[in-house]
Amino acid sequence: MKLSDNKAKLSFSNGSPDVDLPVYQGTIGPDVIDIRKLYAQTGQFTYDPGFMSTASCQSAITYIDGDKGELLYRGYPIEQLAEKCDYLDTCYLLLKGELPNKPQRDDFHQLVLKHTMVNEQMQFFLRGFRRDAHPMAVLTGLVGAMSAFYHDSIDVHNAEHRDIAAIRLISKMPTLVAMAHKYGVGQPYMYPRNELSYAGNFLRMMFGTPCEDYKVNPVLERAMDRIFILHADHEQNASTSTVRLCGSSGTNPFAAIAAGVACLWGPAHGGANEACLNMLEDIQKMGGVAKVGEFMEKVKDKNSGVRLMGFGHRVYKNYDPRAKLMQETCNEVLAELGLEKDPLFALAKELERIALEDDYFVQRKLYPNVDFYSGIVQRAIGVPVKLFTGIFALARTVGWIAQLNEMMADPEYKIGRPRQLYTGSPRRDVP
Ligand code: ACO
Repeated sequence: MKLSDNKAKLSFSNGSPDVDLPVYQGTIGPDVIDIRKLYAQTGQFTYDPGFMSTASCQSAITYIDGDKGELLYRGYPIEQLAEKCDYLDTCYLLLKGELPNKPQRDDFHQLVLKHTMVNEQMQFFLRGFRRDAHPMAVLTGLVGAMSAFYHDSIDVHNAEHRDIAAIRLISKMPTLVAMAHKYGVGQPYMYPRNELSYAGNFLRMMFGTPCEDYKVNPVLERAMDRIFILHADHEQNASTSTVRLCGSSGTNPFAAIAAGVACLWGPAHGGANEACLNMLEDIQKMGGVAKVGEFMEKVKDKNSGVRLMGFGHRVYKNYDPRAKLMQETCNEVLAELGLEKDPLFALAKELERIALEDDYFVQRKLYPNVDFYSGIVQRAIGVPVKLFTGIFALARTVGWIAQLNEMMADPEYKIGRPRQLYTGSPRRDVP
């Protein structure tokens, strides 16, 4: 963080003295005004619900330019990573700051792919859930439970523990997500196969059965890997901020990541892919493409409470670059599976076409986000809608852990403790 020559001055209309505030520059993106001493100097807090103008940390991991529609992991554009790297290269990059050379790559792949099995007791824990439990409820429990299974990597102040926990989480999340799925559908769990790729192994654990060999389809494997890359990190979003805040108390990494899973579940965040597909299915039931106009009128009516799911983003005020890549993958997967005429895909395209031309969306800079197409891809692959957010959680685990580890290694790290503007009753006595 570099101090800028520029300084901010805060003045008050009540005659209190002005306060000079330092300004810091990052490598790219907006400067930040340092208000850490504001309360000590003025007795006042700043007010920013939803963190609309507040940088909660400094970070060197991910950069988003929402106006340009640009996403960089450690400086590399998401489009190049999606073309030239696989998910585990991306994990290495996010965790360590650089892309791996050949021996580093081989070692890292081996390390992750050799730790995919979970403690056998985990399946008994899973059995405590109802079969129809939402996979995100199950996953929140399973990830939190990891802290009860891996006692030797739960000291978040120990860098070695943090590294071991990172590998355990990345290696075992696909196994846990697939177990949550198999439990729900009443099929036997499939043990991981370490000779398969990260995405291939996940597909086999999801869709294979002990009754026959499962052959990984390379187009679907690449599509799943791309879903993982595109969801791997997204700077200080709600779930990542949750992980940082939760971890800031010194809790163990598995508990902090479980908090991230819980936050991701919400429909305004990771749950949007599920909500988006449910929306498309609802419109389809109403009459499909012919009813798009009617549906759009509801979306634009503030009193209806209906939103176009998969559209809009707090940061992107342009096309989400991940949505473009996901649309490409969507075309490939549908072609591979002979589903080019899929009515939901046609419906999604029509909604997108109308929204991109409609004044309501244009004025508010509402563009498709990654969830708009990821649901269609996952549905085509055979992933049940209820599991979409679980797959997002699997992919985002590396981002959460990279951000948590960055925070713990930051000498300026403090427990997160926002303040408030109190609007309740002043002190009063019980009658
Ligand atoms: N459909 C219709 N109108 C919308 C939508 C939408 N999807 N998104 C925003 N708007 C409108 C709002 O009504 C508001 O209009 P107004 O200015 O007339 O009051 C304006 O656009 C700004 O919206 P806010 O809710 O203030 O924007 P915010 O940045 O708080 O919300 C969010 C961002 C939550 C993503 C929102 O766009 C949304 O609900 N989208 C649908 C859910 C979704 O797809 N979420 C996925 C996010 S990406 C991810 O997590 C991977």
